Amino acid sequence: MRTEAERTAQKTEKEIEKLLNKMTLDEKIAMIHGAGLFRSGGVERLGIPGLVTSDGPMGVRAEFMNDRWIPAGNNDDSVSYLPSNSALASTWNPYRAYETGRVLGAEARGRGKDVILAPGINIKRSPLCGRNFEYMSEDPRLTATMAVPFVKGVQHNDVAACVKHFAANVQETDRLMVDEEIDERTLYELYFPAFKAVVQEGNAYAVMGAYNKINGYHCCENRELLDRVLRREWGFDGAVISDWGGIHKTKEAAECSIDLEMSIYPDFDEYVLANPLKEAIEKGEVSEEAVDQKVRNLLRLMFRLKMLGRHKSERRAGTYNTPDHRQIILKTAEESMILLKNEKHLLPLDAAMVKKLVVIGQNAARIHSDGGGSAEIKALYEICPLMGLKCRLGGGAQVEYYKGYHVPEKPKMFDHNWQADSLDDLKDTNIGQLVRDDEHMQEIHRRREEERVAQLEREKAEIHEKNKALFAQAIEAARDADAVIFVGGLNHDSDSEGIDRLDMKLPYEQDLLIEELLKVRKDLIVTFIGGSPVEMPWRDKAQAILWSYYAGMETGTAFAQIIFGDVNPSGKLAETFPDKYEDCADAKNGQFGLWGRIRLEEGLYCGYRHFDRQRIKPAFCFGHGLSYTDFAYSGLMLKTEKNGEIRVNFTIKNTGKRIGAETAQIYVAPIGSKVDRPDKELKAYTKVELAPGKSKKVSVTLKREDFAYFDTALHDFVADAGDYEILVGASSEDIRLKGIAALA
Ligand code: BGC
Repeated sequence: MRTEAERTAQKTEKEIEKLLNKMTLDEKIAMIHGAGLFRSGGVERLGIPGLVTSDGPMGVRAEFMNDRWIPAGNNDDSVSYLPSNSALASTWNPYRAYETGRVLGAEARGRGKDVILAPGINIKRSPLCGRNFEYMSEDPRLTATMAVPFVKGVQHNDVAACVKHFAANVQETDRLMVDEEIDERTLYELYFPAFKAVVQEGNAYAVMGAYNKINGYHCCENRELLDRVLRREWGFDGAVISDWGGIHKTKEAAECSIDLEMSIYPDFDEYVLANPLKEAIEKGEVSEEAVDQKVRNLLRLMFRLKMLGRHKSERRAGTYNTPDHRQIILKTAEESMILLKNEKHLLPLDAAMVKKLVVIGQNAARIHSDGGGSAEIKALYEICPLMGLKCRLGGGAQVEYYKGYHVPEKPKMFDHNWQADSLDDLKDTNIGQLVRDDEHMQEIHRRREEERVAQLEREKAEIHEKNKALFAQAIEAARDADAVIFVGGLNHDSDSEGIDRLDMKLPYEQDLLIEELLKVRKDLIVTFIGGSPVEMPWRDKAQAILWSYYAGMETGTAFAQIIFGDVNPSGKLAETFPDKYEDCADAKNGQFGLWGRIRLEEGLYCGYRHFDRQRIKPAFCFGHGLSYTDFAYSGLMLKTEKNGEIRVNFTIKNTGKRIGAETAQIYVAPIGSKVDRPDKELKAYTKVELAPGKSKKVSVTLKREDFAYFDTALHDFVADAGDYEILVGASSEDIRLKGIAALA
């Protein structure tokens, strides 16, 4: 007996074939490449619309002109600014991921989009990768379990999530051409699982092929990656969309499972899958069937989105900028902030006692939503920490703000971004008859990178000069206040698409300023906004450190609520914060940020897997995050079920005085494995909220696959029988309970 869903799918396939049979070659080709910078071609004669896409992960990007990388300049395209994926992952709360996805999907539909180019789920291999803020974690399980509900939330709105960038898009340096040598096991265990999960569990309708090459082939033309892994092994029948300009060769792209070519160029007919493809078909070099397959996948996507077929009138309409969306964004921001350190219960501050508050640091007053590359958005509003603090304290307290350090002015992303640059460069080369010369492009990008490094050097002198007065003012002010909060960190001048960071240090001499401030205020509250880890050489001297990723339009509100204890922090790090960059695997092997080629020599030993194996203590470990209350763990019981699954039962108790939420993490550590395996790996987690004195019994199931590794000889995951240590922790280092499970 076929299910209702199977019957519907079969009917859809028939409809697709009917439409396909009516189409001319030109019409088919029109559908498989861009007809605008964010829009594919449709077939009006047959009522097939084009697909309207938009970035990105932190909200629906402003409207662009159809054929120029210039914002259309509309006043109706401001949107809700969502927490970045790095903030979202720090909540360790899949429900927040679903809700965030639901808001993004609703806003995308509300703005008339069919495909939203999100979420970004690449594994964070190096803390220096410029786009880390757009990604979730260094761990595949955490990424997968947050990405699946996110995708479901988006697609609930009849909008496709286009999950990006498949695969292993781990650096921005030479991003269009870099060839990454990665062994098969590492791909299957580290870089693939989250993509597999969004396809198989999240039912993602679209996937974006990455710019980089893997083992010699561009991801968008990589048959191994797209045909074998994505389509055959995982059964993906949705649409694969290229990253913008990620396709280079007609025959290769035509003959592999990429369905839609999008690009940064305005000469749409000259796209690789446009006229050049038609010529190749006419010459008999490529078969028309290759095009048919792409059209089928795109039509299937349209049926799923109710753009075509009998259910068109039922398609959700979406909406944007609703109070409900802002509420969801605020909740996520609150749960995302991570209390890294809190000695002597310095935090929270008692608002009634703070009559004079001194706030120092540019991120207190800076807006971040309009930067970062394609993740930039035009936010309806963004509450910065300073505004959050002022709103919270009202007129009863004096709040003084000092910049503290100098940040050189950079052109805003709206006037200047990587994509626009790509076009500008081509203007030199006869725009209109664009030459798609990869080497030429690479040369341009290399030159730009050199200019950036030289510019940063020049800025250092400017910063040093201007900081003299700024430091003096801030230090003076800090002496005389009830409380002093430093709000520093990074911004999208370094957390950005198209560039990697050069080091892991705080820019603008912030370390020096923090050291000086700590001399006059032992009780300095050090807080950060940023998208990737920074070194904190003074951290032993600071009593309180709070970290926030780019957390959306309500960042400042959530920040103030945490500072004054209205909200108890519950975020945990979804990535390791190393003591210094030199400790990282990619720093040790030197295989990051190179041009041309990188070898991922560390293999599986990325993030905490590396720090565990090398016995290097990071500044703050994966999974770390404090609360204003305390939690006790007890009563671990491991039970093998009849089906071979292992039940992990234990109790968490709130032993402190405030309501709070704790994320318990369950790691599996193989004992005496016959193959080399990471010391331990995160396999499950659960977040529980408890009133003071209350406890809760928690039960988590580990499936057989949670014990498995990828056996390259068998080309399959294998879970060897034997003993495994089950570690239950408040972080990857703070293991509270241990037991041994025997796998039959
Ligand atoms: C980025 C993608 C983005 C696309 C469209 C590319 O440069 O890598 O993440 O979705 O542009 O803006």
